[in-house]
Amino acid sequence: MIAIIGGGVIGLAIGWRLADAGQDVAVFERQHAGRGASWAAAGMLAPVSEAEPEEEALIDLALAGHALWPSFADEVTTATGLAIDYWPCGGLHLALNRDEAERLDFLRDFLARLGLEAQRISVAEARTRSAHLSSNLKAALLCPSDHQVDNRKLGTALRAAFVGAGGMLMEQSEVTALDLAAGKVAGVVIGERRYAAELVILASGAWSGSIEAVPARHRPAIRPVKGQMLSLRAETPLTGNILWREGWYMVPRRDGRLIVGATVEEQGFDDRITAGGLFQLLDRARELLPAIDELPVDEVWCGFRPASRDDAPILGPCSLPGLVHAAGHYRHGILLTPITAAGIADYVLRGELPSRLRPFTAARFDAASPHRAGVFA
Ligand code: FAD
Ligand code: GLY
Repeated sequence: MIAIIGGGVIGLAIGWRLADAGQDVAVFERQHAGRGASWAAAGMLAPVSEAEPEEEALIDLALAGHALWPSFADEVTTATGLAIDYWPCGGLHLALNRDEAERLDFLRDFLARLGLEAQRISVAEARTRSAHLSSNLKAALLCPSDHQVDNRKLGTALRAAFVGAGGMLMEQSEVTALDLAAGKVAGVVIGERRYAAELVILASGAWSGSIEAVPARHRPAIRPVKGQMLSLRAETPLTGNILWREGWYMVPRRDGRLIVGATVEEQGFDDRITAGGLFQLLDRARELLPAIDELPVDEVWCGFRPASRDDAPILGPCSLPGLVHAAGHYRHGILLTPITAAGIADYVLRGELPSRLRPFTAARFDAASPHRAGVFA
């Protein structure tokens, strides 16, 4: 059997691919599948808008992952009959003053150097796309490749796809230890029970770096980065694009909800929603879209992004034979779900990590790794 620790979108999608290929596979989830970061996310599939300087290897992976999304969305819906609301809506980066407008030019030039599509559009055109934008709008940059999916529906659908393909989903099942024999992984332990497994895939998101079950020296260096979010409810979408300003964003859903995100906080696993966090979200959102004043608050929540030292995921075999990492997707785990699932399933089925995933093993943090210099240095 193949055991997967963690029932977020990453664990479920890998499990689905493997079960679909005829493997005997179980996902062990300590709470409810799909309720970790995968539930807390905004669901943006936005490799261009979220591209960061010095992260070229990650950007390549994100673009390749983005290209898989249309067919992946079709496959999920065909397999389950469940909608996941994949929407190629496009994104708009907006500036409300001269400083911000200058930074939009910098962003456009940075993206152009990478060959990524982003166009300056007029304020008038931005208003035809989003009628409720602030009267202070100074500049706008359109990123047509920003897409989105309803990440909560995705979690539900992947759960159904995995179980429908014959996978065993064990919820309320915290993996408390690995069973080790002759220096190799031989299974997982849940309380008093042992489950034999020839391979264990660690997909426990932000908990992967502190999970007691895995001996400390084989854990990936991953920490939680807290994100607070809220949603507002309108009758119909206030905008047809994802709106960005200075790293903050608003994601419209087709049913009228507007997701406002997100804080980026180093607070460990402190899951309190704070006045300061909500204030920042509402303040930024209102400056851009004053019309939100009248909208009822639908929900507030927070989640923990699984962050590695270089913000890229940690994927593939590690120093402990039989243990495979699939964690650390930080701000991009929804976007990277299809490519992670395909790549890790390939590794399990064929014994070789696809070349695109090879720069992302934990070995890149070793001093001697060829992937250290030049890629993530
Ligand atoms: P999770 O969904 O957290 O799943 C891990 C699971 O492991 C959890 O269910 C947990 O209970 C379980 N687990 C932990 N320990 C154990 C154990 N010992 N035994 C059994 N189970 C265990 N990404 C995007 O691509 N686009 C976005 O727009 C986006 N927005 C985000 C906004 C916020 C506020 C946050 C917090 C994240 C956002 N992300 C986004 C990132 C994305 O949500 C994550 O990268 C992704 O969900 C990680 O998925 P996962 O399956 O690895 O982790
Ligand atoms: N990708 C959006 C976020 O992490 O907040």
